[in-house]
Amino acid sequence: MTTTAAAATTGLQATGLTKRYGNFTALDQLNLTVNRGEIVCLLGANGAGKTTTINLFLNFTDPSAGTACVAGIDVVQAPLESKRHLAYIPELVMLYRNLSGLENLGYFASLATGRSFAREELVGYLRQAGLDADFVDRRVEGYSKGMRQKVGIALALAKNASTLLLDEPTSGLDPKASNEFSELLLMFRARGASILMATHDLFRAKETCDRIGIMKHGRLMQMLSASEVDHAELERIYLDHMRD
Ligand SMILES: Nc1ncnc2c1ncn2[C@@H]1O[C@H](COP(=O)(O)OP(=O)(O)OP(=O)(O)O)[C@@H](O)[C@H]1O
Ligand SMILES: [Mg+2]
Repeated sequence: MTTTAAAATTGLQATGLTKRYGNFTALDQLNLTVNRGEIVCLLGANGAGKTTTINLFLNFTDPSAGTACVAGIDVVQAPLESKRHLAYIPELVMLYRNLSGLENLGYFASLATGRSFAREELVGYLRQAGLDADFVDRRVEGYSKGMRQKVGIALALAKNASTLLLDEPTSGLDPKASNEFSELLLMFRARGASILMATHDLFRAKETCDRIGIMKHGRLMQMLSASEVDHAELERIYLDHMRD
């Protein structure tokens, strides 16, 4: 669809992005850009508008005002086209529990791309995502949360997604699994992907993200460069914003 000069460098762009439910404003005029090769985290209390932001980029819900663009494509005007560039990883990656990780990946990857994948190719993506070889052919019902995330990452690899939307992906993961997940995000960043992640994990945000946005009551209150602050400063700034 639309190819602009900005599309070459901009993965995600929200302009005046607003979501209202009746009189309630869940997201208030968000202006946000996530460049290629950049990880941006959104922090904020429950109900701050983080998931709303992600859902608007996914076109799960329509904006009340403003635009959300993925790779320069307006998600409302071209919902299918914009989704080709996206991978979405929520807290719990939804998979068919009676199928193996490999079968799930084969199914969803074909659905996403319209082509079939050879077994070796699928195994390659799962292994790249860090799934133990022993688990590739095991049913997903025996997988941990972190292993499900890895299938989600493998799907992003199979789709060759240039944009990742992550909604609290490390919530409930043990520190090692969470660290492995961050390593995978850094791999995507090195490939030039644009990554937007909602999280409550200040430590992980500081360690993994390039920029950190603090949201409150649907507004983006502040955008920080992760290298500008240490962990204690980030926590202090965050808590200062959360005061009423
Ligand atoms: N369908 C809906 N109808 C009415 N209000 C909604 C709807 N969906 C979300 N909201 C409200 O919008 C606000 C923002 O919610 P959102 O899920 O974006 O917050 P969040 O920052 O992701 O919070 P959390 O940290 O709990 O995941 C909340 O007050 C929520 O109740
Ligand atoms: Mg949320």
